[in-house]
Amino acid sequence: MSTAPVFNLKNPCLATMKLARKLSREGSPKDTRHFEIDLRGSGLTFEPGDSLAVLPANCPDLVQDILKAQGWTGGEAVEDLNKKPSTLRGALTTTCNLATPDKKFLNAIVAKTSNAPELVKLLEPERKEQLEAHLHGRELIDFLHDFPDAKFEPQEFISLCKKLLIRLYSISSSLKANPDSVHLTVATVRYHTFGRDRKGVASTYLAERVALHETVIPTFIKEGKGFRLPAPDDETPVIFCGPGTGIAPFRSFLQERSATAAKGKAWLFFGEVSSRTDFFYEEEFNEYLKTGVLTKLTTAFSRDQPEKIYVQHRIAQHAQELWEWLEAGAIFYICGDASRMAVDVDQALHTVVEKAGGKSPGEAAEYIEQLRKDKRYRRDVY
Ligand SMILES: Cc1cc2nc3c(=O)[nH]c(=O)nc-3n(C[C@H](O)[C@H](O)[C@H](O)COP(=O)(O)OP(=O)(O)OC[C@H]3O[C@@H](n4cnc5c(N)ncnc54)[C@H](O)[C@@H]3O)c2cc1C
Ligand SMILES: NC(=O)c1ccc[n+]([C@@H]2O[C@H](COP(=O)([O-])OP(=O)(O)OC[C@H]3O[C@@H](n4cnc5c(N)ncnc54)[C@H](OP(=O)(O)O)[C@@H]3O)[C@@H](O)[C@H]2O)c1
Repeated sequence: MSTAPVFNLKNPCLATMKLARKLSREGSPKDTRHFEIDLRGSGLTFEPGDSLAVLPANCPDLVQDILKAQGWTGGEAVEDLNKKPSTLRGALTTTCNLATPDKKFLNAIVAKTSNAPELVKLLEPERKEQLEAHLHGRELIDFLHDFPDAKFEPQEFISLCKKLLIRLYSISSSLKANPDSVHLTVATVRYHTFGRDRKGVASTYLAERVALHETVIPTFIKEGKGFRLPAPDDETPVIFCGPGTGIAPFRSFLQERSATAAKGKAWLFFGEVSSRTDFFYEEEFNEYLKTGVLTKLTTAFSRDQPEKIYVQHRIAQHAQELWEWLEAGAIFYICGDASRMAVDVDQALHTVVEKAGGKSPGEAAEYIEQLRKDKRYRRDVY
């Protein structure tokens, strides 16, 4: 009997990058990329709706800056945060969170220097909010630069760091269409604060530091519980709302529906900044429209006109038709930004039910709650 390998944090699948290309075109304010990670011979499998966990490595320049600030070579022998023997450079690169200083780290800084009276104040329990505001946009390196007399032993420094965590990415392919690889759609995080260029750890690890066919990427699958398609012969209509990188699971769903000749109608809402520079996977979606895999494609390009147009504005414009789909039993799926987009789309859905369904705000809330209970309102937001 053959047993599939079980991959997890302790036993990740070591995969390599097969293809990487920019989805954002010249002139885009974004840097969103498409990645294909090679699965040949790995035994790693997944379902559409799952996410890929990536265990990233820190940027070597940031590690070098930390070594330099403390006067270390990087070759010092230490135990890393997985309790494995390592060089200091290795431990900082693969096991330490160098981005988000916490109170433990800051207390260690103030214990080493007499030049930090303001930091001492910020650490008082009643100044929690001021401390949070102070930390926003600052990383460990900022405090090492601000307080150069705070010097640590290599092992002491490692033990002050939190662990570098995995990052999750919604899978944007189906094994039925692409049996040898797993695809991701990733927005590269870069910003500038306090005089320093900053990099999101995992998104720039994939975009800048993972070489094609060479660097091993530790990965495993995180099951997308509940974020699943109906069976191919099920005629339930599906509505996908995936602006930005939220498009990822829906590309996977559409590949799967194409490969299984799924019955039932499918409607995709996609939004990005500009139709010219950020219409990710445009040709594929147009092809799905032609072949009938996609019944309807509605786009919202926020910066193609003076006023912002977002997916929720399109939902409102199509209120009557969307209501009819919901009344026909459609499942509404949403993926992408949790803090603003998903909240606004939820509000738009309430308005659809009120306006097109002729319901009071209270009845609309009950209707949406029932959708949730019936697992017809499925969310994968971050
Ligand atoms: C289930 C799930 C699925 C996901 N799917 C996808 C996906 O398909 N595609 C995708 O791109 N992402 C996806 N994400 C998000 C992804 O996991 C990462 O959070 C994202 O890529 C950023 O990780 P990073 O390591 O590059 O950045 P990090 O090193 O984690 O840095 C991000 C942090 O930087 C800080 N920051 C960012 N901008 C600024 C600023 N201007 N000023 C100050 N601080 C700032 C914030 O604290 C922010 O949290 C998903 C998340 C989840 C939970
Ligand atoms: N906290 C932040 O300020 C911030 C900013 C960007 C991204 N992010 C995060 O970065 C990750 C990746 O972002 P992404 O590249 O996938 O896309 P995104 O930043 O979510 O943008 C995708 C599209 O959604 C639009 N949008 C902005 N606010 C919206 C809202 N309230 N409702 C609906 N649409 C809205 C954007 O328009 P406009 O950009 O033209 O407004 C853009 O057209 C997400 O996790 C997101 O939360 C955070």
